[in-house]
Amino acid sequence: MILKIFRVLSIFVLCTAGFSEVISPIKPYDYNENKANLGKSLFFDTRLNENNFSCQRCHHLLKEVTGTSKTPFSSPSILNSSMNYYFTKEGVRQSLKEEIKNMFLDTKAYNTKPSYFIAQIKKNPIYIEQFKEIYGNINFENAIDAIEEFIKALRMPSRFDYYLQGHDDVFNEDEKEGYRLFIRKGCVTCHNGANLGGGMAAYIKNAGSKKKMRTVPSLRNVAKTAPYIGNITNLKDTLRFLKLSVISSTLNEAEMDKIIIFLKTLDSEIPPILQH
Ligand code: HEC
Ligand code: HEC
Repeated sequence: MILKIFRVLSIFVLCTAGFSEVISPIKPYDYNENKANLGKSLFFDTRLNENNFSCQRCHHLLKEVTGTSKTPFSSPSILNSSMNYYFTKEGVRQSLKEEIKNMFLDTKAYNTKPSYFIAQIKKNPIYIEQFKEIYGNINFENAIDAIEEFIKALRMPSRFDYYLQGHDDVFNEDEKEGYRLFIRKGCVTCHNGANLGGGMAAYIKNAGSKKKMRTVPSLRNVAKTAPYIGNITNLKDTLRFLKLSVISSTLNEAEMDKIIIFLKTLDSEIPPILQH
């Protein structure tokens, strides 16, 4: 019965960005190294936050390089974020810069007044020197700009990019079949662009609850970024859930397994900026 109700779910795809490119390989690195290194220091510095934690608290980049975390909240990954157009769970189209600024005001995120953040930066002679050299002066806009450059440096190719570029032998037969199913089963209608997501929002409506607008998440590194869709702990259950809520074609268990094999090819390399 429930299954039947779920099967008549309707989906309203709202807005698309870059739909025509469908799926493209990752764009090449494009960032200013000095700004990115300064941004990296700000990202990890616990002294700049009113409660003495850093961005790393929720967006892990040390040891486990997922860009996300399970606690204190399930936070989205910031790896490859610079290729997204839509942010927040509810699907807001805005710039990466705006999203970083929002972290400061968000009580569930960085939760620190810009004035406090800047005052702390100004106490550090190394930062004073670096800001002077790169920007001329210290202000919130410049600090956000440096953090944005750091996030731009967190763009990492995966085996899938080499496959898209024509290196047929980097995929085995199961992976190729998984990718074919990903296209054929319509995943690509929503998970498209260089990030296989992050380019649009879709209304998801089911019989049990009101329709909700959701950002289509990027699927890069997805095998490492559980939990999914709130609190689903593995990819198989996620696909079972999606089968009932957004996927209009048939999808059996064996096909799900193949798609998951493909999704694992989206695991990225560690970006150079995190290697030193
Ligand atoms: C306490 C946890 C927490 C901290 C600390 C935190 N964030 Fe976030 N971050 C989140 C959550 C939660 C979201 C999702 C926001 C939403 O959906 O409205 C997010 C979203 C983001 C995104 C968007 C990712 C995407 O592509 O969707 C970026 C970029 C980001 N944060 C950067 C930062 C930076 C830079 C800092 C440090 C200045 C920071 N965050 C500190 C929890 C945190
Ligand atoms: C109509 C658009 C649409 C289609 C088609 C679609 N998805 Fe999604 N997908 C979404 C949205 C929206 C979410 C986020 C839902 C939420 O947060 O409530 C999502 C979430 C996911 C997630 C969880 C990612 C995460 O980080 O939480 C995976 C994995 C995923 N989709 C894979 C697929 C696969 C594989 C297919 C094809 C079999 C597919 N999707 C088809 C829109 C779609």
